[in-house]
Amino acid sequence: MTTEIFDVAVIGAGPGGYVAAIRCAQLGLNAVCIDEWKNGKGKPSLGGTCLNVGCIPSKALLESSENFHHIQHNASAHGISAEKVSVDVPVMIARKDKIVTTFTMGIASLFKKNKVKSMHGRGTLLKREGEESAWRIKVTHDEQSEIIQAKHVIVATGSTPRPLPFVAIDNDRVLDNAGALALTEVPKRLGVIGAGVIGLEMGSVWRRLGAEVTILEAMPDFLMAADEQIAKEAKSVFTKETGLQINTGIKINSIKLSGQTVIVDYNNSNNEPQILEVDKLIVSVGRVPNTQGLGIEDNELLVDERGFIMVDQFCRTNLKNVYAVGDVVRGPMLAHKASEEGVAVAERIENIEKGYSSEGEAIDFNVIPWVIYTSPEIAWVGKNEQELKAAGIAYKVGQFPFIANGRARAMGETSGFIKVLADEKSDRVLGVHMIGPHVSELISEAVMAMKFSASSQDIACIVHAHPSLSEVFHEAALGVDKRALHI
Ligand code: FAD
Ligand code: NAI
Repeated sequence: MTTEIFDVAVIGAGPGGYVAAIRCAQLGLNAVCIDEWKNGKGKPSLGGTCLNVGCIPSKALLESSENFHHIQHNASAHGISAEKVSVDVPVMIARKDKIVTTFTMGIASLFKKNKVKSMHGRGTLLKREGEESAWRIKVTHDEQSEIIQAKHVIVATGSTPRPLPFVAIDNDRVLDNAGALALTEVPKRLGVIGAGVIGLEMGSVWRRLGAEVTILEAMPDFLMAADEQIAKEAKSVFTKETGLQINTGIKINSIKLSGQTVIVDYNNSNNEPQILEVDKLIVSVGRVPNTQGLGIEDNELLVDERGFIMVDQFCRTNLKNVYAVGDVVRGPMLAHKASEEGVAVAERIENIEKGYSSEGEAIDFNVIPWVIYTSPEIAWVGKNEQELKAAGIAYKVGQFPFIANGRARAMGETSGFIKVLADEKSDRVLGVHMIGPHVSELISEAVMAMKFSASSQDIACIVHAHPSLSEVFHEAALGVDKRALHI
């Protein structure tokens, strides 16, 4: 055991953990970050799910496949002829891998610059004997281990794909997110179990590259976390324009490997037996918190009935000076939520270490944006119509379609709309829902408006550049008081 006692040990170097470690170091705390991720070449790779097999590689492939789709289907409308357009999947995957490596190595540089000590291996919280001043963490790597000590611990161990009982992931024919991001050729027939965020994004990638994609979803409705009107529009566009076959309300009976194919036996929404035969099958039925080997039992660290580490609004666990952030705790499984929690905890630890009395601020989940990077993109923040109705809150609606926007017309991307929901009496914005081009960028203005408690008329008073997609948000805000100008 080393004699050095770190101020903070962070377990996990995903967007929750690495950001927490950097913020701790910025605040003058002596921080170590322990992470066990290895890339395909068996080398340590910082950045967790997000950088290695999540946000970044999926967006790289979405961009590449979108370009291919545009050239094939939309170029001629611009008077551009592109013949014999083909796709080289290994080049596309290599580009994605290069982007990932650049970013994972970038974190190593950031650690160096900020003097965060980086350790590769599995971190296990050892049983605390009595009122020791520090926690002991065993770091195990290639059957070797060492023990370090820290006054505060931040658990940021993330999540892993939820398995299906019917079939094991082999990342050859039955794929999780890592396998779906590493195919070296376009499958002719691709099945996807789960029409959630991963299913839609990965299904879109391989559909745009030419696969026949069938998505099987257990729930009777589609995208249940989204505003119902947005979900309805998305389903219509994805089936009619994108060509995704989406079957909701299904029940899987069995999944079997047969020769080179995968056979899914399921009942459709009318309870009729169906067979889906595909070349590759993506399983994307949610993710589970990653607490294996962490030492939770020894320390009686409390987890909820779904295995998430239990925390309060300040990310404090039931153990003194042990915090948990990101996918391993309640709340949306999003990289920016994980990072926000990481920063908040780092600042809280600084307050404790420096004897400040401030409790710090709890994260306001209501202003955390969601984005689904399909085409068209989907984004929202705050409450949707069904939530407001269920809560009995009276609200006004302003809505504006992209088809009436000059920039969207010039781009040839006219599907979708933006909807602003504002309180009936106070006019305060309660939620903003978007489906359309580049709404992943447009949503930030709505987040800022809600964070500053803006009313729809505050947004209406802001001058938006013309012609720009942001005018759709402006017109939707004007629409709350029936003042939209271009419809
Ligand atoms: P993770 O990123 O999972 O990192 C946890 C790290 O801890 C890992 O490196 C893991 O190996 C390590 N670890 C675990 N246990 C131990 C241990 N005992 N000792 C040492 N190390 C350990 N979110 C978005 O906001 N936008 C997106 O566009 C987006 N796209 C996604 C696409 C896909 C395909 C997937 C799968 C996810 C996507 N997400 C996206 C979700 C996002 O990746 C997660 O919310 C985010 O990575 C969570 O961050 P985290 O730090 O909590 O955990
Ligand atoms: P998800 O929770 O988004 O979707 C899972 C879907 O699978 C649900 O619709 C669920 O009803 C369905 N399902 C569950 N069991 C099933 C079964 N037996 N048969 C058929 N359908 C079944 O989970 P997903 O897509 O795995 O993604 C995990 C998380 O990763 C997301 O919730 C999100 O937080 C994060 N993520 C975020 C992205 C983004 O921000 N753009 C992109 C990708 C992932």
